[in-house]
Amino acid sequence: MNIAQVDYDGLIPNNVALGQDVRVKRALEKWHPGYLNWWNDMGPEGFQESLVYLRTAISVDPKGWAKFDYVRMPEYRWGVLLAPQMEGRKVNFGMHKGEDAWQEVPGEYRAMLRRLVVIQGDTEPASVEQQRFLGKTAPSLYDMRNLFQVNVEEGRLLWAMVYLLQKYFGTDGREEAEALLQRRSGDPDTPRMLGAFNEKTPDWLSFFMFTYFTDRDGKMQLEALAQSGFDPLSRTCRFMLTEEAHHMFVGETGVTRVVQRTCEAMKEAGITDPNEIEKVRKLGVIDLPTIQKKANLHFSLTLDLFGNEISTNAANAFHAGLKGRYREDRLKDDHQLESGTYPVLRLIDGKIQNEDSPALSALNMRLRDDYVVDANAGVGRWNKVIEGFGIPFEIKLPHVAFHRHIGEFSSIKADVNGHLMSDADWAKRQSEFLPSDGDKDFIESLMKPQMEPAKFASWIAPPKVGIDNKAGDFEYVKLA
Ligand SMILES: [Fe+2]
Ligand SMILES: [Fe+2]
Repeated sequence: MNIAQVDYDGLIPNNVALGQDVRVKRALEKWHPGYLNWWNDMGPEGFQESLVYLRTAISVDPKGWAKFDYVRMPEYRWGVLLAPQMEGRKVNFGMHKGEDAWQEVPGEYRAMLRRLVVIQGDTEPASVEQQRFLGKTAPSLYDMRNLFQVNVEEGRLLWAMVYLLQKYFGTDGREEAEALLQRRSGDPDTPRMLGAFNEKTPDWLSFFMFTYFTDRDGKMQLEALAQSGFDPLSRTCRFMLTEEAHHMFVGETGVTRVVQRTCEAMKEAGITDPNEIEKVRKLGVIDLPTIQKKANLHFSLTLDLFGNEISTNAANAFHAGLKGRYREDRLKDDHQLESGTYPVLRLIDGKIQNEDSPALSALNMRLRDDYVVDANAGVGRWNKVIEGFGIPFEIKLPHVAFHRHIGEFSSIKADVNGHLMSDADWAKRQSEFLPSDGDKDFIESLMKPQMEPAKFASWIAPPKVGIDNKAGDFEYVKLA
């Protein structure tokens, strides 16, 4: 069997020879109806019968792995896809460095590994739940299609994690797979596991910011898990990363197009001052300061996903060889970190300053630093657009101490430059940094659907190229 090719004969497309693995095949077939119920209840509302021009993976070859076709979302072929096994792969870090990578779960790490899989798995359905009403206000059929592509793929990423649970974790794995379908984003009694995945995604600018900032946390976590000494997890995550790339593309180009449209409208109207908010808003576009506030919100919520700066769990997972650093295999050091240090930004004597901490305990901090660098690259591209119009405005990521609910800075208030503020000051000034009710109402007033091919809402520019190189008037979604 060619591992790069996906077997589409059975109910569950896969490249893991599921046909010969009766126990796991049955377990997944049993889980499948519950998944479909969840999708029908919590997936995109109002569009389950529409034909959507979606890509489906037909191979795990990074070049040319997808085919495009019209699909009704509930009939999307969700499946189990792992990147090909690398011959002679070793554990590349931690105390087991140099041993053969594990093909079965090492008994002593079972609980730790299961938790890593469940936490990752829980984010996948959560984002679908958060985005379920957005189809109704899509600014174009092109954007609607991208939303649904992201949604079906988040569903696929859930399948990826559920396969690991069912195949490698026995009865507990089965129970965890069920629980992944029971929790609900934002539910007070049975919320999703991580904070950012219980927030609302109320409008399309939030959606683009979420896919830019929060899906990028997904990328960082998957990169770290792709290094795992537990080979099936590594292979799963390596393929997931090819799908994740598109989600961040949707976010980055989405924000770019919003910025582009705002700048165009300002130029047409002869407005040069980005702070003339009311005048800009009258043009039916989103003013740059409000875009900045949305970025502040989504960036800060996403930083919380990296957990405490100093973390024993992260140290243990690394030491055990289960979760590496970002692109561990390209780093040049001993990959064990028993002695090194890493600078951690901390609150010391009421001041925010760096402190050298044992490298092993500082792994969350390090992954977060790598994330900030990665996130900054796209922000630079947004600013290029603004610069091209000669408008004096620069979008900036806020300081990492700003608006935090987890870790070192959760106990203080800081402005976007990292200056400490009193609670009273914060209460007075927070709407300078985060979207106010007025900002939210304004954005909501723009969220009118545009469902004619080739047309776009007032506040967003068309994309430079179509999906699958389709022409501008292509009907990406055939509404039912
Ligand atoms: Fe995801
Ligand atoms: Fe994603």
